[in-house]
Amino acid sequence: MNTAAYFDALYQQADPFHYRSRWYEARKRALTLACLPRPRYTNAWELGCSNGVLTAELAARCDALLATDINQQALAEAAGSVSDCPHVTLQRAHHPGQWPPGRFDLIVVSEVGYYLDAGELQQMALQLDDSLAEDGLLLACHWRHPFDEARSTTENVHRLLRGGLLEAFNYQDEDLVLQAWSRQPTSVATWEGLR
Ligand SMILES: C[S@@+](CC[C@H](N)C(=O)[O-])C[C@H]1O[C@@H](n2cnc3c(N)ncnc32)[C@H](O)[C@@H]1O
Repeated sequence: MNTAAYFDALYQQADPFHYRSRWYEARKRALTLACLPRPRYTNAWELGCSNGVLTAELAARCDALLATDINQQALAEAAGSVSDCPHVTLQRAHHPGQWPPGRFDLIVVSEVGYYLDAGELQQMALQLDDSLAEDGLLLACHWRHPFDEARSTTENVHRLLRGGLLEAFNYQDEDLVLQAWSRQPTSVATWEGLR
């Protein structure tokens, strides 16, 4: 089954990843938001936004947020999640072939990279580099265990996405890895004048 057909079947169920009910998911979103070095981002992008649960939490930290997904049903549900956020734009796109214009100071690739094969990931990494603003942060978060639909390992996803960027942070536990990279150092203490 190709990726689009797989997600078409999956989104026959409401909230197939249990974003609204699982503590695992709520904790992961809290970690993601807590690790962001800046209080706000001007123009952010979330790839593979699903039903928009993370999108809504990111939206509170962004002036503008683009959220893309391959699946129309997921986007319809995402519209409900961000109905009170006029600064969020939802767009259907199959990455990396379909790609938005513009540069972003925050790009979030959460639980989507392993659905791409190595060639697609390499193309995506190059395009992400072009889309990342000079002061931008590229964040990736992925489940560490193998599963049937994964076309790449999480280790390869994070290695390819990093490219030549500096590591901004790296959190790992038994189940997930949450990392981010940037072109410039991101010390919060420096940014706030503490050192
Ligand atoms: C597991 S969900 C991640 C949701 C959210 N980012 C999070 O971490 O809470 C993955 C989503 O990525 C979308 N997706 C998978 N491959 C994609 C691709 N090549 N382009 C765009 N979206 C894709 C799926 O439709 C699905 O909604």
